[in-house]
Amino acid sequence: MKKYKVIVVGATGAVGREMIRTLENRNFPIQVLKLLASSRSAGSKIKFKNNELTVEELNKNFFKGFDIAIFSAGGDTSKKFAPYAAEAGCYCIDNSSAWRMEKDIPLVVPEVNPEVLQKGRYIIANPNCSTIQMVVALKPIHDLAKIKRVVVSTYQAVSGAGQKGILDLKEQLTAIENGETVHVNNFQYQIANNLIPHIDVFMDDGYTKEEVKMIKETNKILNDFDLKITATTVRVPVYRGHAESINIETKDPLSAKEAKSVLSKAAGVIVQDDLSKNEYPMPISSEGKYETFVGRIREDKTVKNGLNIWVVSDNLLKGAASNAVQIAETLVFKGIV
Ligand code: A2P
Repeated sequence: MKKYKVIVVGATGAVGREMIRTLENRNFPIQVLKLLASSRSAGSKIKFKNNELTVEELNKNFFKGFDIAIFSAGGDTSKKFAPYAAEAGCYCIDNSSAWRMEKDIPLVVPEVNPEVLQKGRYIIANPNCSTIQMVVALKPIHDLAKIKRVVVSTYQAVSGAGQKGILDLKEQLTAIENGETVHVNNFQYQIANNLIPHIDVFMDDGYTKEEVKMIKETNKILNDFDLKITATTVRVPVYRGHAESINIETKDPLSAKEAKSVLSKAAGVIVQDDLSKNEYPMPISSEGKYETFVGRIREDKTVKNGLNIWVVSDNLLKGAASNAVQIAETLVFKGIV
């Protein structure tokens, strides 16, 4: 079997570390793995399989001769360095929002729209974490009954803000426990014992950029610009695992039973919906898993053809690292690399 030369940019970050683990756990065929980050962590060591790999400082000349570079080092780094990867003929799978809405850049969730991956389209965007898990759950319903409108509210873990988000919650919980002053370093307010309805910056119309990303990216991935979506995104004091309450209106009638049946058969979805056993998806049970979990599937009786679902996934895996690695697997499967 052919093996590939792979780069991870942002290897020391919360998502980057999961990318390395996912490449190992999913046994991606690797010939060489290069780990890159900023000068701050150059020289540090990260374990891959049975080897300790040394992190090097990102440099535009690294990409030549490599097949795939997975980026998770923020939008500015991607904007600057992804073109160098593309120029060198290295497929760049970018986790930031830098390229997602560019017309010719594929925005990909492999269970939903693998057809947009094509030879020569070197920059590929990994969608926003909240978008990925939502479209995995919406796609089978859309195919069956055509979704007209979606109302989504999110409950997003602090790890979505990277290592500094994780650290903020950890330090605040410790300070509260010890009766010390609580410091706010990353979020707008204390996140411990709180909810913050503010992710990314506010736009002129009162929506946050995170909400706009969910709306626009969903339209692009489902290739349906008539589908109406409105979103409220909320940061919650959970380390890992995003949850979403999604209200759906379809053109054609769809019972909760039919929705449950189609979701049970959908790629990448696990239905957890047995109320007699208090079974429903939760962040702690999605941690470390690659799938998207769907439960609380029920009809919304206040509208014609309405449905409510509850969707949970590991934001660092399906919401970021494992979706990116699945894109790499699809490039291999389709013979693009
Ligand atoms: P470093 O550890 O050297 O700062 P997170 O989102 O968890 O904070 O992680 C961000 C990742 O992106 C880290 O690996 C970080 O490396 C990396 N990174 C940030 N800025 C740059 C940059 N200018 N060049 C290369 N890597 C960067």
